Amino acid sequence: MCGIIGYVGTENASRRLIEGLKILEYRGYDSSGICLLSRGEISIIRAVGRVENLENKVTDKDESFCGIGHTRWATHGSVSEENAHPHRVGRVTLVHNGIIENYLELRTRLEGEGYSFKSQTDTEVACALFDKYYVENVHPCVAIYRAVREIRGSYAFGIMFDGYEGRIFGLRHRSPLLVGLGSDGLYLSSDITALLPFTKTYSLIEEAEVVELREKEAIFYTHDGICDPVWQEATLNYDQAQKGGFSHFMLKEINEQSESVRKTIIPRISGGLPDFSHDGISRDIFQGIKQIHIVGCGSAYNVGCMGARLIEEYSRISASAFVASEYRYSPPANMQSTLVIAISQSGETADTLASVRYAKLCGCRVVSIINARETSLARESDKVIYTYAGPEIAVATTKGFATQLSILYLLSVYLGIFTSKLDTEVAKLKVDELDSSVRLIEGRLKDLGQIEELASLIYRKESCFFIGRSLDYFMCQEGALKLKEISYIHAQAYQAGELKHGTISLIEEGTPVISLMGEVRLLDKTLSNVKETKSRGAFTISLVPKNEKSPQECGDFVITLMGNSLIEYLFDELLCLQMLAYKVALLRGCDIDKPRNLAKSVTVE
Ligand code: F6R
Repeated sequence: MCGIIGYVGTENASRRLIEGLKILEYRGYDSSGICLLSRGEISIIRAVGRVENLENKVTDKDESFCGIGHTRWATHGSVSEENAHPHRVGRVTLVHNGIIENYLELRTRLEGEGYSFKSQTDTEVACALFDKYYVENVHPCVAIYRAVREIRGSYAFGIMFDGYEGRIFGLRHRSPLLVGLGSDGLYLSSDITALLPFTKTYSLIEEAEVVELREKEAIFYTHDGICDPVWQEATLNYDQAQKGGFSHFMLKEINEQSESVRKTIIPRISGGLPDFSHDGISRDIFQGIKQIHIVGCGSAYNVGCMGARLIEEYSRISASAFVASEYRYSPPANMQSTLVIAISQSGETADTLASVRYAKLCGCRVVSIINARETSLARESDKVIYTYAGPEIAVATTKGFATQLSILYLLSVYLGIFTSKLDTEVAKLKVDELDSSVRLIEGRLKDLGQIEELASLIYRKESCFFIGRSLDYFMCQEGALKLKEISYIHAQAYQAGELKHGTISLIEEGTPVISLMGEVRLLDKTLSNVKETKSRGAFTISLVPKNEKSPQECGDFVITLMGNSLIEYLFDELLCLQMLAYKVALLRGCDIDKPRNLAKSVTVE
C-alpha cells in the first residue's frame, strides 16, 4: 500500500527520498513520485512502475534540501503519472496515504468554487481543500485544521506550503505517520523501516496533532498550542530490514521462522505452561466468556481458522473464525459474552480494524495478535499479544503466519487449563511439542531435496488442488494461497471429503492433488479421498507422518513429515508448502517478493 517519506535538512533531499521510497517498496505500489524545493521552485517528478523509473528521472539539477515522496497503490483512478503523488493545487503540494470517503462531494463543491482537477484521485481534492483554507495571513497549521474538519475517511499527509520554504507539515487520522530525528535533519515517514538508514530516533504523530518539520527542529502542534514530542529509539536494525544474503526476502523470512517462533513463545511459557502475563493478560480477561470470534484477512484468517479449531478442541469454548471484510456486514446473531481475537501481521489492515471497531461497539473485549509495533490495531485493542517475527518485507507472509500459529496454539492450551478440559501434565506435553516444532523447522530447511524435485514436476501445471481434513484443511488453505499469490498457478483448497461433491470433475490426467495427513486420526479417510482423485488421473502428492503407512499406499509422490505430534506435523506441512510455493515461483521466473497486483499492507476496504 502507499508509503510516505519526507526530508528537510542539510543533505541532498532527492537521494534521501529515493532511498526511503526503495525501502517502502515492500509495501506494494504501482507508481511513485517526489516533490523537491529546488532553488526556491517546486519541482514534481513522478513515474509509473518501479522506484528505479523515478530515480532515472531525477537529475543533478534537482538538488534540494527539502522534499516529500510517495509510493502509490491505486485506489481512486488508474495507475498513471497524473494520478501518482505528489499532487499540487494552487500553493499546496502534498502526498497522502488513506482514503477520503467524501471526496466526490468535496470535489463537486470545490469545482463550484473554481477549482479544476487534473487527476481522478481523492488526494488532489484534499490538496485543493488545504489550498482553499491557506489564504493570506493564515498559518499552514490553521489551514490544515480548518480543512480536515471537512474530510471524512482515513489519512496521513505530508504537505509543503508555498511561502513556507524548507518546511514540511504532517498529520494523520487512522493511518500511521512518524517523525524521525536525524543528525542531518528531520524526516517524515509512514513506516519506521524507511527511517532506519537515517535514524533510529522517532516520535509518533498522534491523532489531531500537526507537525512542522524544519532543518533542525520538529514542532508538534495540538488544537491547544505546542506540545513536546515523545522521542523513542527504534529497536529494529536496518540490517533486519535487508535481505541478509538471501536471494529473496521471502526466503530469508522462511529461514528466520524458527528464531521468530522461539522468540515469540519463550516469554509466554512459564514452568512449562502457557503464561500471558508478559502481555498483561491474566485469567480475568477470559472470565465470563461464552464464545470466541477470531477475525483476520488472507493468511491471518487461515491461521485464525486453525486457532478456532484448536481452542474448541482443547478448551471446548465455542470459537469461530471470520473473514474480517465480512464480519460487520454479516454479523453473528449473538455478540454477548464474546471475546474477539484480531490477527494481523501489519496491524493496519483496514477490514481487520473495522471488525475490531464493530466488536467494540457491540461491547466485546478485543485481544489482538500483531507483529508490527505502534499500529492502529494495537491502539484500538484492549490487549495486544505481539509476535516477535521482526519486520516482514516479502508481500507473502511466512514468519508472520508461523508466529501467529504458535501464539494461537499456546492460547488454546492456556484456555484448556482455564476451562479445566486439559490437565496440567497434558498441557505441559503440548507446550513441549510446540518447543520441538522449532527445532523441526530448522531440520526441514536442511532437507529440501524432495521439495525441489516436486517443484520441478508441477511448475508448468495450470491448476493444483490441496486437500485435507480438520486442521490439515486450514493448512491447505494457506498452502493454496501461497502458491496462488507468488507463482500465479490456480490453486484451491478443499476439505478432503468434499471434493467428490462437485469439484472432482476438474481433475484431469496429471492434475496435482496435494494432500496433508498430519491429522493422523483422519489419515485413512483422507487417504481414501486421495485414491478417488488418483483413479481419475490425478498426480497425487501426500505429506504423511512417518511409519503411518507405506509410501506406496499414499500417493505418487510422498513426503514424510518430521516430528511425532500434531503441532510438529502442522509446522512441517507449513514449511513444505511455503518452500514449494517459493521454488515453483522461482522456476516460473515470478517476482517473488512483490507479486503482481498485491500490497503488503492493505489499508483500504
Ligand atoms: C498472504 C498475505 C495476506 C495477509 C493479509 C492480512 O501471504 O500476506 O493474505 O495475510 O493481507 O494482512 P495482515 O496480517 O497484515 O493483516
